[in-house]
Amino acid sequence: VACVSAGVQAQAFPGTKPISIVVPFTAGGPTDRVARDLAEALRKPLGGAVVVVDNAAGAGGSIGANKVAKAAPDGHTLLLHHIGMATMPTLVRNIPFKVDSDFEYLGMINDVPMTLVGKPSLPAANYKDLSTWINANKDKVNLGHAGIGSASHLCGLLFQNAIKIDMTTVPYKGTAPAMTDLIGGQIDLMCDQTTNTTSQIEGKSIKAFAVTTTKRLTTPALKDLPTLNDSGLKGFEVTIWHGLYAPKGTPADILTKINAALKAALKDPEFVKKQEGLGAVVVTDKRTEPAEHKKFVAAEIAKWSPIIKAAGVYAD
Ligand code: MLT
Repeated sequence: VACVSAGVQAQAFPGTKPISIVVPFTAGGPTDRVARDLAEALRKPLGGAVVVVDNAAGAGGSIGANKVAKAAPDGHTLLLHHIGMATMPTLVRNIPFKVDSDFEYLGMINDVPMTLVGKPSLPAANYKDLSTWINANKDKVNLGHAGIGSASHLCGLLFQNAIKIDMTTVPYKGTAPAMTDLIGGQIDLMCDQTTNTTSQIEGKSIKAFAVTTTKRLTTPALKDLPTLNDSGLKGFEVTIWHGLYAPKGTPADILTKINAALKAALKDPEFVKKQEGLGAVVVTDKRTEPAEHKKFVAAEIAKWSPIIKAAGVYAD
């Protein structure tokens, strides 16, 4: 799905063709939300360039990531992706690209908490009730996610591992379609980012049970939710982060221009307001620097690989 900003006179970015931000999940989900807000905030710092969002979903995010890894390194095809860049190398054998060598790192964007949410008819008013219900229905609970290697898949797997109950996991091409089925009651549970769940929780179209951060959140609709860590799952912590990438070999002067525009976009009050309103925290530290972004992803791969292996949650 591309959304072209109508009527914006394309200026010379390096060239006048649109810049495409590839989102490796369907439109309407949490990754797409970050990308559309960022595309809006990048236009001005990129001299009025036309910035579109291209949803290339599937295979837990690796189809979209691969599309950018193989794209022309001209600065006009970028990837906006999340923690999946650090978990896929462990979770999914033979992904068709190398996270450390097939991409140029352009800087990080935000940190996003996750929420454990349930269908509206789920007979539980809090995490304690939910835990009782899961144990009473242990062989028929189903949990939605956005494919093997996605953030919702990782959190769902770690949650099942923490409570030692295997659920039926239902893959979607993004958590937007999964959310539709959760609201409709076709699936029971999901672990998804606040950028996708906050408005549904506010609108009471789903139930919310806990957050996956070690500290409670301050977002009004989420502030009363306990952490899973405080609800008996000691040490449970999953925070999703997003970064921007270009194909390896993109010229340095173009990378510098995009990184400068990204830093300006992250300071755009409109962008910050939209993201913070959904529980996300915009990056203000050194992770906006490409070298620090690359170091952070390498550290995250080292962090998550043993956790994933210990939980025995391989995918294939
Ligand atoms: C995920 O990894 O769960 C994605 O964030 C889902 C999405 O963006 O649709």
